[in-house]
Amino acid sequence: MIICHCMSITDADIRAAVDWMRASDPETLITPGKVYRALGKKADCGGCLPLFMETMSKSDGFGVPVHLRNLRAADKERKTHEGRSEGHRIPKQGTEE
Ligand code: FES
Repeated sequence: MIICHCMSITDADIRAAVDWMRASDPETLITPGKVYRALGKKADCGGCLPLFMETMSKSDGFGVPVHLRNLRAADKERKTHEGRSEGHRIPKQGTEE
């Protein structure tokens, strides 16, 4: 089935590219842009991206490596506490006498 009509990319092309990327680098994050590049093509109108993403997500090799999951939540937690213990946070240092 054709997924991207602008570039004539099929669901089989996408699955093959995802599997190839996962086999060549087990820790890579697979994005639509990387799949386009792996196929030697470039997105044009972008109208296919919802279906493109859905096809990618159904591929066997699409899963995100465990150590790369929840990075946004971990980053938010880190920024909140600045990586310092509670007694050493900057706003509290100025108020203590
Ligand atoms: S349909 Fe895929 S870029 Fe236009």
